[in-house]
Amino acid sequence: MKDTLPSYAERLAALHQALEQDFRGIIGRLPWLGHESVVDAGCGDGFFTGLLAERLPEGVAVGLDNSPAFLLTAEERLQPLIDAGRVRLVEGSVDRLPFDDATVDGVWSGHSMQSYPDLPHALREFRRVLRAGATLAILETDNVHSIMLSWPPDLELAVRQAEHGQIGDEDSYIGTYFPRFAQRLLREAGFTQIAREYVLVHRQQPAGEQLERYVELYLKFLLDQTGPRLSDAARHRLAQLADRRSSTFLARQENFFFGSLQVLLTARAGGETNGD
Ligand SMILES: C[S@@+](CC[C@H](N)C(=O)[O-])C[C@H]1O[C@@H](n2cnc3c(N)ncnc32)[C@H](O)[C@@H]1O
Repeated sequence: MKDTLPSYAERLAALHQALEQDFRGIIGRLPWLGHESVVDAGCGDGFFTGLLAERLPEGVAVGLDNSPAFLLTAEERLQPLIDAGRVRLVEGSVDRLPFDDATVDGVWSGHSMQSYPDLPHALREFRRVLRAGATLAILETDNVHSIMLSWPPDLELAVRQAEHGQIGDEDSYIGTYFPRFAQRLLREAGFTQIAREYVLVHRQQPAGEQLERYVELYLKFLLDQTGPRLSDAARHRLAQLADRRSSTFLARQENFFFGSLQVLLTARAGGETNGD
């Protein structure tokens, strides 16, 4: 069991801070009436659990994660809502959710598909615990469209080639490119009325402190990830784009653009626990 936060936690938290209103708007689209008990699977630091609690003023948001370190962070964030009985945090795995069959009013999972070791199995677990007809909502990105920036095009192509070049086989990437496979995977797990909504979250100048921080962390992450496969010149240019002290810092350029194509998937639990 992990007992420290993973290296992406700071970057994810910076993204949440920068785009909080957009994510609140996305949660606002969900069909829950407000009194349900909804599980936030893979809740991480509890960012979405808190937004779900806002969305469910008479219900309960149940954050579930298998990382004690993330659950501790979520507890610190959500203590007042926990005290008020509006949030519960549960340590457990999507491999075997700690809930009985057909007892849960809704499941939400945000940006976690690529973290689950056996994704088809996790989706069947979501189906098992949901009441028939209840809603599963998944927010994901497709890794190719996840973060769009106003890069110099030749540098972006070099970095993306290095990033996606070693793509592996389908089992290794269905989580990373989940929206491309969602329809089939959700149907096979026993869901019906599957819908996908694409939401473009975007910003221009001025980026603001929080988005600047995210862009810095994201570009530094790409530099770490792809640097060894880039030419010296490309690596240097990427480092300059990521450097907040440099006049070439991407987020302060006149033409700065940030976009993130978020994909909201919703589906209903079919009539049979083992699919229909
Ligand atoms: C990329 S993070 C997303 C966290 C959160 N949903 C968010 O959007 O901030 C993936 C989360 O899935 C959790 N996770 C990974 N495998 C899991 C499993 N088998 N069961 C439950 N949670 C898991 C990780 O600990 C982490 O919190």
